[in-house]
Amino acid sequence: MNLIPLRQFVADVTRAVSAKSDEPELLATVRQHLATLVARDDWLPEELAQPHPQFYRQYLLHADALERFSVVSFVWGPGQQTPVHDHTVWGLIGMLRGEEIAQPYGHDGAGRLVPQGEAVRLRPGDVEAVSPSIGDVHQVRNAFADRTSISIHVYGGNIGAVHRWVYADDGSRKPFVSGYSNDWVPNLWDRSKEGV
Ligand code: FE2
Repeated sequence: MNLIPLRQFVADVTRAVSAKSDEPELLATVRQHLATLVARDDWLPEELAQPHPQFYRQYLLHADALERFSVVSFVWGPGQQTPVHDHTVWGLIGMLRGEEIAQPYGHDGAGRLVPQGEAVRLRPGDVEAVSPSIGDVHQVRNAFADRTSISIHVYGGNIGAVHRWVYADDGSRKPFVSGYSNDWVPNLWDRSKEGV
């Protein structure tokens, strides 16, 4: 298993969140690093790429010790989709394998949450952003009904612990904390087999 790209990404994002507090600057920097990470598909451990027959999976790949960011592999089974939801922290989505479709939502004049703008289709290598300052509510689905898709997500906090919201058609919302699907994370730090 080649964990070098993921380790490099974690180091790069750690440097970025340490150096920058301005969100637009930080998002621009992390976006570049994420684009580099998802430009290749040879590093994600197989166990953290497994779909579930019923539910989409969110596997933790790395959580910053100070909970300034987290990295997740988001694994879609065929035809799976999220409810309409928000994040409450910034997030970047990099498409690794397959494709997904994200529909942004916003409030209309009556305060109802409605689809806003065109749905965005992500293909391998593409990166999208969400945050409370640029648009934080969306519904996302696997673009395919017959195969797995995987995107790599980076969030501006420990997303497995962040209190956020899912939204119903009638405009009501319910709190949720997404947690993580895995009970182990990649060992980025054993470099004995890398020959370096
Ligand atoms: Fe999302």
